[in-house]
Amino acid sequence: MRILVLFAHPAQRKSSINVAMAANAKSLEGVTFVDLYSEYPRFSIDVDREQRRLMEHDLIVFQFPVFWYSTPALLKQWQDLVLEYGFAYGPNGKMLAGKHALACVTTGGSRSDYAEDGGNRRVVEQFLYPLEQTATLCGMEYLPPFVLFSANHLDDDSAQQHIHSYPRLLTALRDDRFDLTGVRLLPSFGSSDLIELMRD
Ligand SMILES: Cc1cc2nc3c(=O)[nH]c(=O)nc-3n(C[C@H](O)[C@H](O)[C@H](O)COP(=O)(O)O)c2cc1C
Repeated sequence: MRILVLFAHPAQRKSSINVAMAANAKSLEGVTFVDLYSEYPRFSIDVDREQRRLMEHDLIVFQFPVFWYSTPALLKQWQDLVLEYGFAYGPNGKMLAGKHALACVTTGGSRSDYAEDGGNRRVVEQFLYPLEQTATLCGMEYLPPFVLFSANHLDDDSAQQHIHSYPRLLTALRDDRFDLTGVRLLPSFGSSDLIELMRD
């Protein structure tokens, strides 16, 4: 698959995980990496360019930290402007149909916070539902999200494991070595699931 990574993080100097993940993804052959906040610091998105990029790829990866149970603001702006009627949806808006979408997110909250009886009262997939339904409305297949919980409280080994898993995930998807049938059975997945999901 031709992969487009749309990375959205407004405070990269304070990032411990996403910037390291992004650094690993940037240099991958066959993966187009876009740092939205660096391209559009004033939020004036070039809609034609973004739509062209979408059309040139098969899998759109949305990489971001969960901020206030949602995407960072520029990624919402990107959705509002780029996913136009007649392009992404509507009777003649079929340009994204058949593509795949994958959210790669990090959360401050722990896995147990993201539970019906946890502090956030919902599982993380439910907070990502607007993105899921947006992709679905546009005719895309929304894959279960790749999630890192407790991103601010990780020991070094767990952080490194996730940072290194990310490019492995992207290259497996790129090279058709990722078990899409298997991942569809999961609500979400993390770096510890990758061994099961990758084929040689
Ligand atoms: C403005 C702001 C809002 C946040 N909102 C949430 C939230 O709603 N849920 C959550 O689990 N973590 C939240 N966090 C924590 C971030 O998700 C966490 O710091 C990030 O995933 C860590 O990745 P990084 O080191 O790359 O920044 C928030 C952080 C900030 C700065």
